[in-house]
Amino acid sequence: MILFYLVMGLGAVTIFLLLTSTKGFLLPLISSSIALLVVTVTISSIMLPQFLGAPWVPTSKELVNKILSISELKPAETLYDLGSGDGRLVIAAARDFGARAVGIEIDPFRVLYSRLRISQLRLSGKAKIIRSNFFNIDLRDADVVIVYLLQETLDKLQYKLEMELTKPNCRVVSVVFRFKGWEVIRSDQEARIYVYRTRPATTDT
Ligand SMILES: C[S@@+](CC[C@H](N)C(=O)[O-])C[C@H]1O[C@@H](n2cnc3c(N)ncnc32)[C@H](O)[C@@H]1O
Repeated sequence: MILFYLVMGLGAVTIFLLLTSTKGFLLPLISSSIALLVVTVTISSIMLPQFLGAPWVPTSKELVNKILSISELKPAETLYDLGSGDGRLVIAAARDFGARAVGIEIDPFRVLYSRLRISQLRLSGKAKIIRSNFFNIDLRDADVVIVYLLQETLDKLQYKLEMELTKPNCRVVSVVFRFKGWEVIRSDQEARIYVYRTRPATTDT
C-alpha cells in the first residue's frame, strides 16, 4: 500500500510541476516518474500476487456465471471471493444473485478499479472489496467461498477454511485446482469447477 500512495503522490507532484516549472527540470522528473510507475505496477500487480497466492487471470463472463450457478448462491447468503481481481465475480454475485459479496484482493490497482466499478453500478450496499492478504481475513460469516488460485495456495488455505467455515451448508468452490481429501459434492468437469461442503449440512440447500 505504501508503494501505491508513493505513486499517487509522485503523480500529483509531477502534475503540479508540469503546471509550474521550467522545461529543463521536467524531462528527468517525468522519466523517473514513469520508471517508478512501471516498477510499482510490476511489483504490486504481477510479482506480489504471484508470490502470495496466484497471478491475475481474467475470468470469462461464461465462467463467472458457471461458478456462481454451481455454488447455488442465494440472496440471503454471503459470498467471499479470495483474490477478487477486478471484482467481476463479486459484482455478478451482488447484481445477478442478490447476495452480499465480499472480495479480498492484494493488488491496490485492482482494488481501486473494482471499488470504482461497484460504486458506478450502485452496488455498494451489497458488494465490497477488502484490500488485504486473504490469509489475514476472518471468513466465519461466509456461506460460499470462491477460490480461483494455484494448487500450493489451496494446500496452504485448506486448514484455515476447515477451521473458519463452520456455518451449516457452507460451500467452497475451487476453479481448475482441487482440495485434497475433501469430498466434491458437485462439479463441472469441462469447466473444471469443484464444489465442496466443509461441514455436514444441517439444513437443506
Ligand atoms: C486468478 S485471479 C482470480 C480473479 C477473480 N477471483 C475472478 O474470478 O475474476 C487471482 C487473484 O488473486 C489475487 N491474489 C493472489 N494472492 C492473494 C492474496 N494472498 N491475498 C489477496 N489476493 C491475492 C491476485 O492479485 C489475483 O487478482
